[in-house]
Amino acid sequence: ALVSMTQMLQDAKAGKYAVGQFNINNLEYVQAILQAAEEEKSPAILGVSEGAARYMGGYNVVVAMVTAVMEAQGTTVPIAIHLDHGSSFDECAKAIHAGFTSVMIDASHDPFEENVATTSKVVELAHLHGVSVEAELGIVGGEEDGVVGDVMYADPKECQELVERTGIDTLAPALGSVHGTYKGEPNLGFKEMEEIGAATGVPLVLHGGTGIPLKDIQKAISFGTAKINVNTENQIQQTKVVREVLAANPDMIDPRKYLGPSRDTIKETVIGKMREFGSSNKA
Ligand code: G3H
Ligand code: ZN
Repeated sequence: ALVSMTQMLQDAKAGKYAVGQFNINNLEYVQAILQAAEEEKSPAILGVSEGAARYMGGYNVVVAMVTAVMEAQGTTVPIAIHLDHGSSFDECAKAIHAGFTSVMIDASHDPFEENVATTSKVVELAHLHGVSVEAELGIVGGEEDGVVGDVMYADPKECQELVERTGIDTLAPALGSVHGTYKGEPNLGFKEMEEIGAATGVPLVLHGGTGIPLKDIQKAISFGTAKINVNTENQIQQTKVVREVLAANPDMIDPRKYLGPSRDTIKETVIGKMREFGSSNKA
């Protein structure tokens, strides 16, 4: 069933596991992630960046495609369609009106008061529509879809204030994680994570899920993280298969013959993450 993230993440926090946000790029991603969720009996969040939404033809296309695939595949587990790193109130509003069940407003690059003001506006509209809201403080490192950042830790006091003043459902405090692959092992601010989780009371989100070792995933979950975002890992695994299949078959031209196997790989990768995050058999 198509739902917001609110209940999903409350349950995850209480049950000490995390729900994966898996970013989508096209039909094959949707099919693979929904298949994985259903087989694992796991809730899942389909992450849609603004760039990915444009690539797929807009927010309406995304919602139509996801709902059609859910119906075709007989999806029964809870699924959220979530705008990832929404850049403005307008973009969030468009996604909400198109039928997204969740949005992230990422005003983390703005001064604190502006972040509070923009996030509050998004919350007001979103909650009217039963849509959940994620906001961010600090800066996630690396690059994703043109969103570039040098790691900056979220301030625990600001986190508490942002949550209290805006009424967001979940918060992504940047604490050393990076979009894309890590150079060496990630160095996450667990002390701050614990403090922020306790002070705010809301389930926390961990961005930059690719390349985080299992022990850190488990630690993050124990400190209140209830949502982990994964994008790059699926892209790496998918593209690897496409390259291998095309290299082994230089005459191949039927896209189904290389996108099909790469879809299976996305599904397997997602299943692996669901097991690591502990969300399997929780739907
Ligand atoms: O918002 C999306 C995520 O934070 C993805 O991070 O590409 O490093 O897995 P990742
Ligand atoms: Zn992110």
